[in-house]
Amino acid sequence: MCGIVAAVAQRDVAPLLIAGLKELEYRGYDSAGLAVLEGNQVRRIRAKGKVREMESLYQADPFPGGTGIAHTRWATHGMPNEANAHPHVAGRVAIVHNGIIENYAPLREALQARGHVFTSETDTEVMAALIDARIDTGLGLREAVLAVVRELEGAYAIAVISRDEPDCVIGARRGAPLLVGVGIGENFLGSDAQALIQVTNKMIYLDEDDVVEITRERVQVFGLDGRPVERETHESELSADAVERGEYRHYMQKEIFEQPRAVADTLESRIGPHGVLPNIFGVGGDELLAKVRGVHIIACGTSYHAGLVAKYWIEEYARLPVAVEVASEYRYREAVVPADTLFVAISQSGETADTLAAMRESRRRGYLGTLAICNVPESSVVREADLKLMTRAGPEIGVASTKAFTTQLAALALLTLRLAHERGLDETRYLALCEQLQSLPRMIEQALQLEPEIQALAEHFIPRHHALFLGRGVQFPVALEGSLKLKEISYIHAEAYPAGELKHGPLALVDEDMPVVAVAPNGPLLDKLKSNLQEVRARGGELIVFADKAAPMDGNPSRGSVLRVDAGGEFIAPAVFTVPLQLLSYHVAVLRGTDVDQPRNLAKSVTVE
Ligand code: G6P
Repeated sequence: MCGIVAAVAQRDVAPLLIAGLKELEYRGYDSAGLAVLEGNQVRRIRAKGKVREMESLYQADPFPGGTGIAHTRWATHGMPNEANAHPHVAGRVAIVHNGIIENYAPLREALQARGHVFTSETDTEVMAALIDARIDTGLGLREAVLAVVRELEGAYAIAVISRDEPDCVIGARRGAPLLVGVGIGENFLGSDAQALIQVTNKMIYLDEDDVVEITRERVQVFGLDGRPVERETHESELSADAVERGEYRHYMQKEIFEQPRAVADTLESRIGPHGVLPNIFGVGGDELLAKVRGVHIIACGTSYHAGLVAKYWIEEYARLPVAVEVASEYRYREAVVPADTLFVAISQSGETADTLAAMRESRRRGYLGTLAICNVPESSVVREADLKLMTRAGPEIGVASTKAFTTQLAALALLTLRLAHERGLDETRYLALCEQLQSLPRMIEQALQLEPEIQALAEHFIPRHHALFLGRGVQFPVALEGSLKLKEISYIHAEAYPAGELKHGPLALVDEDMPVVAVAPNGPLLDKLKSNLQEVRARGGELIVFADKAAPMDGNPSRGSVLRVDAGGEFIAPAVFTVPLQLLSYHVAVLRGTDVDQPRNLAKSVTVE
């Protein structure tokens, strides 16, 4: 998703802007650009492809300048090419934009009717032209931006500079993230704290509809009505080295191996020998959770899969009805909300446009309250929720989510246990489940030891075009997550099915070219799964089975292999079995030579609808 960095400083800002953009690469993008004011000239460079390609253009012909804006673009309106890359310039104004302007077509036509010639297909260039036209009427840059954003429909985070006011940058946001980095004698704007952590740890998080003016000495925030508003400055807890790749070949690999620590951090001070600790969901959380009679979970992508696991857990242990839905569907339909239902939003970033919109929509639908399970404390989802439980995964850079997923499962397991206890789960069983959850970091550590075997297995997938993932019960969402990982980063088409559905369709696809990956925990469904696997074997399919150490299996299949995983108990098994599936996708992608951390066409944080 598009990334924004802007700076006003005494030093030359182009190198700072480029460094900031590199921190935002993880969001996913297809072109990059920057514009700096040099005297009363706008110097601009843009390039399709990676930030380093734009950087080499700058290095070939560097220029000074203390005020600038920069951008990584993820195409929405118009192809990824240089002409559509940001910044866009109209007259004296240059602008970068993240989001989608929904009413841009009539605005563009009106400008064209007045003789404006556009050089790109973007909605952003329309904004630049509108702001420039307002300045023509005598407004200053800030007033011009305010006047224009009042006319816009849709979502935006923008940073704007003008040749006429070389010492300031104006920012504005609605529905897309933007924050201010407060320095000493210099100030910044960025899409997230990571983009700015190299220059400052003091951040001001802007609210919806805020407009901000930054100069070297001052940061002033205004509401849409143009009146000044107060926003607090926070010290960010991010550290610059938390986002270093270290000895690992890819961020994704590093993040897979960080899971024992990340899960342990997520459980720390929240669960003890006597169970889940009080007040972990925030002020009033325990009282509210005691009243819950049903749960609706809303999320996207990997976070949605975490929600599906939680449905099995909460229904089994807390005996409460749970519905799980992808946010983009939920927000546009009239879901029935029974009395005393809790709304749970799960999001790594806390900025996913559909999840945020669904949460806002839920306010209208009469829920008991909203709970955010999220990894970014300052994000919009967290700020707008009644209750929150932070996953403490640390920054996740790889676009394909790994440690965010397992920490979400840890957080959802805490929620399950709290609800189950409240609803009278037998004390001995409750304490046994708590103990199992506390062993999760150790069990993940053990699963990581399987890497060499999985790396060898990955070779089988190099020439494949398709793969099937099977699971039953709570392992079905794990199969879904495994297949999502494989398609995201290796570009192999993968589908997941509940193993019992095999005979209702996908079995037709099984032949010697179709690897079938199955998750086989030791439990009441094992025998049923084994018969499903027989069906695959009988059709010559290659079976790759991740089986619990305790699960009796009948030796190696004639084609394929069985890998033994110590799942550590039925409750935590979904989180443990996820790990070998992550490693499998990772090594397949490495062998196929794809861009593992930034797979094509995908974005880390999807801040547009
Ligand atoms: C994108 C990312 C996924 C992520 C999903 C939801 O599609 O590529 O990894 O699961 O968004 O993001 P969220 O930040 O809301 O969890």
